[in-house]
Amino acid sequence: MSLHTDWSTLTPFLRDELAGAIDSSMIAYTQLMTRTGLGPEWMGWLDLLEQPNDALIQEVSDLGRAIHADADVLVVIGIGGSYLGAKAVIDALSSPFSRKGPEILFAGHHMGDAYHRDLLSYLSEPKADGSQKSVYLNVISKSGTTLEPALAFRMLKTWMKDTYGEASRNRIIATTSPSGGALNKIIEAEGYRKFEIPDSVGGRFSVLTPVGLLPIAAAGIDIQSLFYGAVSELENIKRDPSTITNHAGCRYALFRKGYAIDLIASFEPELGSFGGWMQQLMGESEGKGHKGLFPAVLRYSTDLHSLGQMVQDGVRNQIETFIAVKGVTNPFVVKPDAGNEDGLNYLAGRTVHEINTKALEGTRQAHIEGGVPALTIYLDQLDAAHIGSLILYFEVLTGVYVYCLGENPFDQPGVEAYKKAMFSLLGKP
Ligand code: PA5
Repeated sequence: MSLHTDWSTLTPFLRDELAGAIDSSMIAYTQLMTRTGLGPEWMGWLDLLEQPNDALIQEVSDLGRAIHADADVLVVIGIGGSYLGAKAVIDALSSPFSRKGPEILFAGHHMGDAYHRDLLSYLSEPKADGSQKSVYLNVISKSGTTLEPALAFRMLKTWMKDTYGEASRNRIIATTSPSGGALNKIIEAEGYRKFEIPDSVGGRFSVLTPVGLLPIAAAGIDIQSLFYGAVSELENIKRDPSTITNHAGCRYALFRKGYAIDLIASFEPELGSFGGWMQQLMGESEGKGHKGLFPAVLRYSTDLHSLGQMVQDGVRNQIETFIAVKGVTNPFVVKPDAGNEDGLNYLAGRTVHEINTKALEGTRQAHIEGGVPALTIYLDQLDAAHIGSLILYFEVLTGVYVYCLGENPFDQPGVEAYKKAMFSLLGKP
């Protein structure tokens, strides 16, 4: 078993409520797996794990490798589910200090004026040897009409044409729906290479399609291991769904008791962006009908010195989900110091990971004693297969939990409200 969820720490907070909530989550789990719940037409993210398309994964892997070898910079254009998964996996599995291959930059997830202008200037700057940077673009938009990435793509494809001329079309890869949307029109007009996002896969469930897999492969990460980590987690869950149904049941019972916020916390700096992906997956799936736990990402120890006070002593409406890693492959050992002026020799001989683990255990204990129900999900180690497992775990958990709430996990009608108001202010025809 590659993932382990310890929810025993929640039991002091849940007594009579738990049994009924777990019954609900077992029903919800069956609905999800038999495609009989709300939004069955959006279940492609499970289908693709049950019937893997190895030829497609190989094609994406080959292109990713080619970009990895040839690019200095890959700009990934997308917003929400169209970029958060790739960012989460790349940040989890490649250190910014030793990352090989292209620099991976993200654009089109906001409309920062200076950000996009500076990005174009940065791409134009020659390399140290005076030569032009080798830049590739991967534009990702399922609808093909979302304003933020569409605007960034307009600027960046113009820059690509100005810089590489006709050859720019070999450096631009588009990922979108099989048909429809402005992006498909551009692809047809320009002849860009295209990958499809199946209609049955929503953005925040799309990281294991070319949406996430291409940028991840371009970063040099083994996408086969990532994908098959998810496949094997699905098999584990089907063999024994109790971990998922207990976890979803606890969350549901806590929500019904009046808890309002789920703090997604990790002491592993590599998992900060993974928290960002989880935040979108959970937030956009469950924030409906005035229900749901507001997911907030906390990066520990950093945030213990900014939000720790609020968690320990603020309004008692928070629960906490820790993501922990059990082992490290390359431990960093604290050395003894002859003078010991800093008084840290009591830590000599221990690994930073051991010390970090004690920080996690101490923080969890203090928060639980302070009245915050907390559970922990342990990964044996941080590698592509375990991250694949974690992705699938949270996708299934989200589906089950949102079914418990009586909502459709796969739509996001509320996101349209800001678009409508913004387009009206912009005078969109
Ligand atoms: O999860 C979702 O479906 C959304 O977050 C979308 O990914 C996001 O709105 C971007 O949409 P699109 O890919 O159509 O540009």
